[in-house]
Amino acid sequence: MPNDPYLDASVVWRIKSGNLDFKESSYSSVKEAILSSGLATEVIGLISSGKEADVYLTSYRGAPLAVKVYRLYRTSHRGGRPIKLDALGWLAAREYEMTRQAWNGGALVPAPARRVDNMFSMRYLGTDEGPAPKLNEVDPDNPEVMLNMVVSGIEQLAKAGVVHSDLSAFNILLHDGKPWFIDLAEAVRVDRTGEAPWRRLQEASVALDRGLSSLQGYFDRYELDVGKDVLVNRIVSSLDRHNVLNRA
Ligand SMILES: Nc1ncnc2c1ncn2[C@@H]1O[C@H](COP(=O)(O)OP(=O)(O)OP(=O)(O)O)[C@@H](O)[C@H]1O
Ligand SMILES: [Mg+2]
Repeated sequence: MPNDPYLDASVVWRIKSGNLDFKESSYSSVKEAILSSGLATEVIGLISSGKEADVYLTSYRGAPLAVKVYRLYRTSHRGGRPIKLDALGWLAAREYEMTRQAWNGGALVPAPARRVDNMFSMRYLGTDEGPAPKLNEVDPDNPEVMLNMVVSGIEQLAKAGVVHSDLSAFNILLHDGKPWFIDLAEAVRVDRTGEAPWRRLQEASVALDRGLSSLQGYFDRYELDVGKDVLVNRIVSSLDRHNVLNRA
């Protein structure tokens, strides 16, 4: 696995440094789980290994698909038996639903395919050479055009009823020259504001503020202003159809 062309640099580093508990046995059991769930017919390799989930490149009858697998166990820092993390299974369901909502509303997210338990499949963004790079790793030809595309992408997500709560240049992939938003597990649904619209919009506003600050950090490289405050206001007031924020 360490020489697999699909492994991103951070995975290789973590395997080399011993930071990642990457036992052959756990890889093959996840592979087994993906295949027996029917989400894929072949598991090609690991694309990324994060804190809570791993992303695999797979194929379904020859067509590439990405499968995100939330961990069900985490090794205890104090040693002993692994800790069971039932909650992460719910995150898979949440991320799948949020991605579907965004996709249905025309936002640039990888088309979700199916979910089974703690795993879900979606369109693979990338080429034969490897997965699409994160915005953070890219130096765009025209940073201003990129900024405009990212801003329209965020507005399109909001129109679809989804506010990303973990926006950053690490959760945007560049594919076919466009910014695609990923990692929506903790996104906020803003289309049906339910019983407590004020709270939901407040939450969305805080999330947007945080995410746009993080993106500002990236666009600082090009001395470009994201226009955070104006954008947060514009998006939140467009979502606040009943003007609850001004009445509160
Ligand atoms: N649909 C996809 N196509 C190609 N690569 C993908 C896809 N989804 C995720 N990835 C790759 O997997 C990485 C991690 O995905 P994601 O951000 O959803 O997971 P995460 O749990 O947040 O992981 P991390 O903790 O590393 O951020 C992405 O940065 C990207 O490299
Ligand atoms: Mg992420």
